[in-house]
Amino acid sequence: MGYVIAVSGKGGTGKTLISSLLIRHFSKKTPVLAIDADPDSNLPEALGVKVERTVGDIRESITGEGVAAFEGKIQEVLVEERDFDLFVMGRPEQEGCYCVVNNILRVAIDSLSKNYDITIIDCEAGLEHLSRRTTRNVDFMIVVTDATRKGILTAKRVKEIADELNIKFKKIRVIVNRVAPELREEMENALNEAGLEVIGFIPHDPIVAEYDLKGKTVFELPEDTPVVQSFNEIVSKIEEELKTL
Ligand SMILES: Nc1ncnc2c1ncn2[C@@H]1O[C@H](COP(=O)(O)OP(=O)(O)O)[C@@H](O)[C@H]1O
Ligand SMILES: [Mg+2]
Repeated sequence: MGYVIAVSGKGGTGKTLISSLLIRHFSKKTPVLAIDADPDSNLPEALGVKVERTVGDIRESITGEGVAAFEGKIQEVLVEERDFDLFVMGRPEQEGCYCVVNNILRVAIDSLSKNYDITIIDCEAGLEHLSRRTTRNVDFMIVVTDATRKGILTAKRVKEIADELNIKFKKIRVIVNRVAPELREEMENALNEAGLEVIGFIPHDPIVAEYDLKGKTVFELPEDTPVVQSFNEIVSKIEEELKTL
């Protein structure tokens, strides 16, 4: 059985950057399924993948037949790249219909992820997935925060909801992104007080914006940049922790 890694946290903290770096890392050595579960989807751009259909696009045809029938339609949404496959949830056309999409997300996680060694889910900023238990099969929950009170509060909420709903992530770890070195200790203390363990820090790195503007993908980021170097340290810790699950 493969591992399911989900990346959550407040909007704009770096979930998509970190998800795409995880995909880049693991897809070099093993079959990877990438799931973009954020209605404000931007994982395909980060990975340089063109997506024609999302679950949101075919949702209409699913509701009539029931979510179970969706399993047969999964292939219509799955984009197969050379090194990984990508599944994009997208946005339902009517507001307030996320429950259907979220049910589909659960089906997708349950049935699709079996075929891959690693599944990476780029979660939405809100905690909808968590409160609807769509993330029940997540082995490793990564919460991303920046050095803001709101980022820390969201990280705490992820843990609280998980505790309340009895969602058993096998591991939950925090990555502190875009944080100045002098704030690290303070951030770590604040998170530890909330019962959250920090797995690593990523500095602000101008190359991220530069590549974004130039339309370059995460696969082109050089190894010797601060963002990749600090990510590499974190991912080797994640791999060590996965072995203990
Ligand atoms: N460590 C970093 N250094 C520089 N820019 C970053 C860093 N992390 C994220 N960004 C930028 O911040 C913005 C938000 O990041 P993103 O990964 O899209 O966040 P989220 O998916 O959580 O909304 C993007 O423009 C991204 O390129
Ligand atoms: Mg994002």
